[in-house]
Amino acid sequence: MPDIESLLTEKRTFKPDPAFVKQANWNRRKAAELRELGEKHPKRFWAKMAKENVTWFSPWKKVLDWKPPFAKWFVGAKTNVSYNCLDRHLDGPRRNKAAIIWEGEPGDVRTLTFAQLHREVCKFANVLKSQGVKKGDRVALYMPMIPELAIAMLACTRIGAPHNIVFGGFSAEALRDRIEDAGAVAVVTADAGWRRGKPLPLKDAVDNAIEGVESVRSVVVVKRCGPEVPMRAGRDHWWHELMADASAKCPPAKLDAEHPLFILYTSGTTGKPKGILHTTGGYLTHVTTTAKAIFDLKDEDVYWCTADIGWITGHSYVVYGILANGTTSLMYEGAPTTPGPDRFWDIIERHGVSIFYTAPTAIRTFIRLGDEHPKSHDLTSLRLLGTVGEPINPEAWMWYHRVIGGKRCPIVDTWWQTETGGIMITPLPGAVDTKPGSATLTFPGVKAAILSEEGNVVKPPNGGLLAIQQPWPGMLRGIWGDPKRYRETYWSKWKNPKDTYFAGDGAHKDKQGYFWIMGRVDDVMNVSGHRIGTMEVESALVSHAKVAEAAVVGRPDEITGTAIVAFVTPIGGTEAGDTLVAELRRQVTKEIGAMAKPADIRFTDALPKTRSGKIMRRLLRDIASGKETAGDTSTLEDLSVLAKLRESDEG
Ligand code: PRX
Repeated sequence: MPDIESLLTEKRTFKPDPAFVKQANWNRRKAAELRELGEKHPKRFWAKMAKENVTWFSPWKKVLDWKPPFAKWFVGAKTNVSYNCLDRHLDGPRRNKAAIIWEGEPGDVRTLTFAQLHREVCKFANVLKSQGVKKGDRVALYMPMIPELAIAMLACTRIGAPHNIVFGGFSAEALRDRIEDAGAVAVVTADAGWRRGKPLPLKDAVDNAIEGVESVRSVVVVKRCGPEVPMRAGRDHWWHELMADASAKCPPAKLDAEHPLFILYTSGTTGKPKGILHTTGGYLTHVTTTAKAIFDLKDEDVYWCTADIGWITGHSYVVYGILANGTTSLMYEGAPTTPGPDRFWDIIERHGVSIFYTAPTAIRTFIRLGDEHPKSHDLTSLRLLGTVGEPINPEAWMWYHRVIGGKRCPIVDTWWQTETGGIMITPLPGAVDTKPGSATLTFPGVKAAILSEEGNVVKPPNGGLLAIQQPWPGMLRGIWGDPKRYRETYWSKWKNPKDTYFAGDGAHKDKQGYFWIMGRVDDVMNVSGHRIGTMEVESALVSHAKVAEAAVVGRPDEITGTAIVAFVTPIGGTEAGDTLVAELRRQVTKEIGAMAKPADIRFTDALPKTRSGKIMRRLLRDIASGKETAGDTSTLEDLSVLAKLRESDEG
């Protein structure tokens, strides 16, 4: 019996458009050569990428020092991330090109050229120094999506003070945990940020979070929305006041390749959040190389990644990987549906966005809202689309391809994690045929496999556990302050070989070697002895024309061990009743087989999601089996969704 059964077969294949291939940064030939180099000599491959894509102040003595599970990349080399994102673009035509085009939720727009951004970053680096922040000190950033967030990040990298960004939607308690665990000495925040037409207060939460936290000496506050906020004398300072006096001269610190760059907290199902540590040279090499190859970045592009910078996607592919390539990065402050359901498409049209990178959860929301919204805008500036964060159901992929991409844009479905730092499994848009729902192949220089619980390679098309089999430059270097947990969580699944990274995802490979991510291993359902992943059943449900989104979980069942319960969000205006239930059960039987047919189907307007948009199946499991909600709900985006689901259960 395989670890996870693979039930869904997707036959559609899309070849890269010849016109796209012709201009691609990595065409088939280049991709094939680099793939071969990456397979035979991964260290040589990454060293070549590091030389081509990153500017170093001094070279490395050794590409990799690997004492599992601890890695050092580009040993002894010196560089600086802000130098790579800014200074090196100032001597040529990029100097006065837009680095950041920012749009606030109320509609205000600001553009910062590379020269202007450089100036702001140097000034803020001096502000940090004036607040006593030194190389190695941690700085917490709790900010809205405004240019000052990118400025603060780059300023931290300029002086070698690792940042610890906490997403602005987190509560004061979550913020306190993260500030305390990281031992931050300063906090940068704003009075508030705009979200759905209202100011979302931030400074208040900071005040509560740092009460009694001794490490924090200074708080810098950006005035964004204008509400009165209490300022504590000696500790709190206005951003604009400190910046007014700051010098614009600040040479970049020459930092060791392994100097800590940032800590970013990620929460698992249990236990306290893990402070994922990333360092300088390897991370920069990984994100700069992948961004250039996968997003096919060109000087003319306007690139827009909709992720909040508070997540890894925003770190790697709103800021660092994009600016290091000298590409214009668009940043948007607010909600996707404010003031109307077409806000994203309006932004794409007005700014001429050419590359668009978003999450499946957003795509499914737009499917539910209706095609008329994207169709009322001119989206012809788009030339490439991407997705990240969850498996994309094939029908959602097809919608993205057709309605947003006008059937001409390649789609890169990129698999990676906070821990991997950068993209690991992905199409190369000018070189790899795509299949809806598959993240396709590993990026050159990355080695992955599907393993069984025992560590044997699982043969296609069976499913198993996704494993990374050799170190990569963007890999996490540890969990802040907890080397034991680092080893146990990621490097102890298999005893032999002991240097294999456990990603926690289920996946299978097809005969062509394409990877299909099947969902988190913790969510796998065991129905009558068949181990079924969530992704395939959900995709079968979403392939019904009236379904926008679906989540499946198991609940205990006397006969089958586990019975499948489906929570389904229909497309707007659909009548959800017994007829649809019967149709959906037939659909699943037809697409993947009777054993995966849901025992219960429940309709809901909304699913419980994390603040970054991932469905929280753990909570649905409790509801499906009539249990109280156990475990942490602090990462839940909207608590009322749970109450509603429970009400419908009783009703
Ligand atoms: O389960 C996988 C899913 O997101 C997890 C990582 O989450 P996080 O650390 O928040 O980072 C998200 C942004 C990189 C993975 O373990 N995931 C991410 N991308 C994909 C995906 N699942 C399927 N397909 C993807 N493209």
